[in-house]
Amino acid sequence: MAINMKGKNLVSIDDLSREEVVQILEIAEIIKLRHYSQESQPILKGKVLGMIFQKPSLRTRVSFETGMIQLGGEAIYLGPDDIKLGQREATKDIAQVLSRYVSGIMARTFSHDIILELAKYSSVPVINGLSDLLHPCQVLGDLLTIKEKKGRFSNLKLTYIGDGNNVAHSLMFGAVKVGMDIVLAVPPGYEPRSEIVEKAKEDAQKIGSKLEIIHNPKEAANGADIIYTDVWTSMGFEKESENRKNIFKPYQVNQGLVSKAKDDVIILHCLPAHRGEEITDGVVDGPHSMVIDQAENRLHAQKAVLALLL
Ligand code: CP
Ligand code: NVA
Repeated sequence: MAINMKGKNLVSIDDLSREEVVQILEIAEIIKLRHYSQESQPILKGKVLGMIFQKPSLRTRVSFETGMIQLGGEAIYLGPDDIKLGQREATKDIAQVLSRYVSGIMARTFSHDIILELAKYSSVPVINGLSDLLHPCQVLGDLLTIKEKKGRFSNLKLTYIGDGNNVAHSLMFGAVKVGMDIVLAVPPGYEPRSEIVEKAKEDAQKIGSKLEIIHNPKEAANGADIIYTDVWTSMGFEKESENRKNIFKPYQVNQGLVSKAKDDVIILHCLPAHRGEEITDGVVDGPHSMVIDQAENRLHAQKAVLALLL
């Protein structure tokens, strides 16, 4: 049964029902197929997406902008110096004014509260394009990639190795939403936020999947179907970078760690990668790595989100 998602926000995967996540992935597959068969899909003709960025971006910016253009609409990039979010006027004024111009707002911010405030005061859908807490669009693309490569979500061990950050948070929400087992190996003190873990565990219990947080990367990699990693230092935490390099060293995804996983393991990374830190060249460029397909799937997954919400 199709679910009408028009006008909804995408702040967190946790706000979506399992059926809504499944629907996004199904629409993404159709949109991707049509794109590959060069079928024009002008379903967002006349619509405009306002894109607010407090932080840099390659994938999010280009995939959203290209996605809008491919669906017949347009996108306006609003970088840190354009609207000076948080400095020039109140966020709620930005949300209300932008809502009178554009059909949807996508925002990448430092504080997650800004995303929540935009969503509260905007009368058009607000899409979280990464905050310090969450990165839901990334994980929708990741789920699409896993579905394509593995053909299922059940009986899979998804292993995340590294920092308990925004990507890890959304990955937990996404995995349990579709019934995938997930284990995270993180250094002590860098665990995901407890309130996110608790929420994700509730969903895991409902659907019967496992969610585990451990400290041993080898144990986590053992028998894994998917190994996922991300940078040790996220945007906004640069001052901690040197200290983190020492703490996270045992959590590097290298050939040794990958050899613990299943023979057909796939390696995922949201990118940008810090080669030689959280992942070696050999692994990121190796035969198990799907990171470029994964980056491409941001485009298709987000086009599905745009088609459904705007
Ligand atoms: N993965 C991701 O969001 O990449 P960007 O920071 O380049 O947008
Ligand atoms: N965790 C990373 C993801 C970048 C796409 C960051 O927030 O910088």
